[in-house]
Amino acid sequence: MITLNINGKDTQVDADPSTPILWALRDNLNMTGTKFGCGAALCGACTVHLGGQPIRSCVTPISAAVGQKISTIEAMESDKVGKAVQDAWVKIDVPQCGYCQSGQIMSATALLKTNKAPTDADIDNAMSGNICRCGTYQRIRAAIHDAAKAIA
Ligand code: FES
Ligand code: FES
Repeated sequence: MITLNINGKDTQVDADPSTPILWALRDNLNMTGTKFGCGAALCGACTVHLGGQPIRSCVTPISAAVGQKISTIEAMESDKVGKAVQDAWVKIDVPQCGYCQSGQIMSATALLKTNKAPTDADIDNAMSGNICRCGTYQRIRAAIHDAAKAIA
């Protein structure tokens, strides 16, 4: 058993220490908001926060998360910045198929927690690891600006 702090709660996970956080969330804990895309740190669909930083949970073992805080999309509704991002996503109608969007929201929230008024270049830089096959990038950028204004 490994104890992980997930969304503010200590949670027991019965898995090998080398298990990627993504599979502990999805398979062990049935938290399916975090998505599997590539499994190789290339698409960003699996993005969660570890110690406040956006990380690729498909390639980060649970052993690396012991003693740190993991935050997932399931907690964003009760996070001030995460909620503002989600509200902007709804207002601007960002998603198309939706598959990449929990990862997009996690990266956008991490950006706005450290940069309250990001420029287009800041957004492109912070979001460059999150691929959207539906090409929602323009709406993502608009929604991040909208969320930044709402938080200000
Ligand atoms: S599933 Fe982790 S980066 Fe693609
Ligand atoms: S909304 Fe379809 S992959 Fe991004």
